[in-house]
Amino acid sequence: MKVEHTEGDSYTDRLFQWLLREEKLPIRLEKVIKPKVYKVQYNGQPMILKGYRRAQTLEQQIRFFQDWNYASIAAARPLPFQDNIYTKSKLGCTWGLFEWVQGKHADFDNHYDREKAVQVLHQFHRTTKGIATLAIPRDPLYIKWERRLEQFEETQDVFSDYRKRSIYQEIRLSMIIQLERFSNHPWGEIEEKAWENNEWLHGDVAHHNFIINNNEIKLIDFDLLHTGPHLYDHIQLGQRFLPYLENQRSLLLQYFKHTPDPDIWLKGVLVPADILREWLYGYRRCVRGEVSLSKHIKKLEKAWESRRKFVRYAEHMLR
Ligand SMILES: Nc1ncnc2c1ncn2[C@@H]1O[C@H](COP(=O)(O)OP(=O)(O)O)[C@@H](O)[C@H]1O
Ligand SMILES: [Mg+2]
Repeated sequence: MKVEHTEGDSYTDRLFQWLLREEKLPIRLEKVIKPKVYKVQYNGQPMILKGYRRAQTLEQQIRFFQDWNYASIAAARPLPFQDNIYTKSKLGCTWGLFEWVQGKHADFDNHYDREKAVQVLHQFHRTTKGIATLAIPRDPLYIKWERRLEQFEETQDVFSDYRKRSIYQEIRLSMIIQLERFSNHPWGEIEEKAWENNEWLHGDVAHHNFIINNNEIKLIDFDLLHTGPHLYDHIQLGQRFLPYLENQRSLLLQYFKHTPDPDIWLKGVLVPADILREWLYGYRRCVRGEVSLSKHIKKLEKAWESRRKFVRYAEHMLR
């Protein structure tokens, strides 16, 4: 058996020993993709085995997919271990199987991949509206972003240490101004309507959660699935495209021209929450000693430089 994981990965070993010897499941480990995400052969079929600390994250997906008739075309579905048994609990996690999607991650630097991503997201939104499965409640987007701003503020000393206070202040101010403008929208009403209509959000529309194979595209990783305005997914996808399109501004708007309220969509995209997310993600890696802080600050400066130009341009459109 060819097993591509580091020797002595005792967690993985124990898990698979248990699945095989005690549960007697027809499973074989093929590859460790990342901790708790494995490519396996199950009954000779390629699948994903994924572990969840919170069982409800997986259970929600299983219920949701049972009601989503269109799922086989647009997504990697959860699969049962045996008749109607979709979960197994072991080693502090609840485990689930998913269809394996052949292909590569979408590349948002590529026009075709961006078009496909918008298309499958629309398809997902359209075909899941009305699914009445109970959803795990989550905070509205602007609340999540307020928290992110607070976390950003907690890193301000780093900027002082590296004599980069001005960029910190500039980003922080932009975040405050754009976020306030975005938050002033009547989100309470809009959220309520979305809950009533059972509008579902994917919640994590990063390039690595889209898998493309020739002209087919599928969504994976529904761990952040929840109900809320579809607009939130469009805003987040717009932000994911943004670094590639800051110099082809009108193109960005083209992908989202069917969004019901383009003005508020643009206001959302302009909130530099994605820049803060990348900063915080990298900062945590710096703290763990995985990357250098000075390099990470340079990256932030570069990202901010081109974002600033985009914001200035877009401001004209909102006036
Ligand atoms: N159903 C699937 N088919 C093919 N590859 C998958 C599938 N599920 C996950 N992967 C691969 O594993 C990676 C991590 O899985 P994912 O469920 O997205 O975990 P995370 O929650 O950590 O983002 C994906 O980016 C993808 O490369
Ligand atoms: Mg993912």
